[in-house]
This record gives sequence, structure tokens and C-alpha cells, in this order.
Amino acid sequence: MISYLKHISITLLVAVILAIGFIYSGIYPIGADNKHNALTFWVLETLRTKSIARAAKDIDVPPLNDPLLLLSGGADYNDMCAGCHLTPGQTENDMTLGLYPSPPNLTLTADQHDHDHGEGSHDDPSVIARQQFWVIKHGIMASGMAAFGPTHDDDRIWAMVAFLQKLPELTPAQYQIITARQ
Ligand code: HEC
Repeated sequence: MISYLKHISITLLVAVILAIGFIYSGIYPIGADNKHNALTFWVLETLRTKSIARAAKDIDVPPLNDPLLLLSGGADYNDMCAGCHLTPGQTENDMTLGLYPSPPNLTLTADQHDHDHGEGSHDDPSVIARQQFWVIKHGIMASGMAAFGPTHDDDRIWAMVAFLQKLPELTPAQYQIITARQ
């Protein structure tokens, strides 16, 4: 028994030393033009999905149908977000092609773009809305997605969430009108 445990400890120690050696060696390809291997991808994707779902689950979603919300949220989206998350009619730009992870195309519905929102999100639109609010407020670590909470209050963030619910339905011309600064 003792020798069995000793064997396991030595194996673990060697694994830790090899892992630290790997980190210090500098051979990990950190460029954004590289793709993660399947394991790293799964770890990061699962970490993001589960973390956002848990953090956002108790957020109350206010009414999002007020047209004034759409106008202020639309203007903010156009100024601060469209450069990464696209406008109706666009399918890609320098940011979606160059950033890794790539910013999801928010002119598509959450079901159409390739981001998983966890259980229940397909049946309940408020799951998507509260997760979008949380992401805009807090950002996503080690990605291009900044936290807008330090510089924008909750009302302003909810206005952008309200606009995001309508964005997939807008034509390029409607988008232009709604997002123009009043
Ligand atoms: C510099 C590029 C960039 C800008 C500017 C940006 N984002 Fe993002 N955003 C990202 C990236 C990259 C992700 C995906 C991060 C990930 O998968 O880990 C993301 C994720 C999101 C998500 C989560 C989408 C999903 O389906 O999971 C929302 C919502 C979002 N952004 C909204 C916004 C809003 C609103 C703004 C403007 C206030 C904004 N973003 C500005 C790059 C950006």
C-alpha cells in the first residue's frame, strides 16, 4: 500500500515539474492566429458558459419594450460595440476575423450564432437577456470583451440589452435610423 502511494506521489510530482517546465519553456503558441487544441477549447468554453450562467441566474430582467430604450441602446451599440459585433448585412470584419475568441455576430439570434448559453436558454428569452446584461457589465476575462460596468450604469446597459433583442430583426436601413444619435 505504502509503495503504491509513493509511486503515485512521484508520478504526480514529475507531472507538475513537466507542466511548470512547459510553461517556462515558452513553446506554447500564444498568437491569436492559432486555434486552441480540443482540450483547452473545451475547458475554456465550459468555464465561460457555466460561470456566466451561474453569475447571471438571479438577475431580474426589467421590461425591455420601451422604444426610448431601443434608441439610446442602439446609439450606444453603434458607437461602442458594432466594430466587433457587426451591423445588419455584415458577416465579418477585421475584428471577427482577427480576434480569438472571435466576437459573436450579435445581428444573429443567440440560437443562430455559435455561443452556448447553457440549459434553458433556448426556451426562455429572459435567460439570454440576463446573461447579456451580466457580460456587458462584467466583460469576459482574457478575451476582447471589456467590462462596461465601471463606466456605464445599469440603466444604460439594460438599454443595450433591449436593443440586442431587436437587432437580429433589423434591416440595414432600419439599423441606420434607430442607431442615429438623436
Ligand atoms: C474589441 C471587441 C469587442 C467590443 C468592442 C465589444 N465586444 Fe462583446 N465580445 C467580444 C468577444 C471577443 C466576445 C466573446 C468572448 C468569449 O467568447 O470569451 C464578446 C462577447 C459578448 C457577449 C456575449 C455573447 C454570447 O452570445 O455569449 C455580449 C452580449 C457582448 N459581447 C456584448 C457587447 C456589447 C453590448 C458591446 C458594446 C457595449 C461589446 N460587446 C463590445 C468582443 C467585443
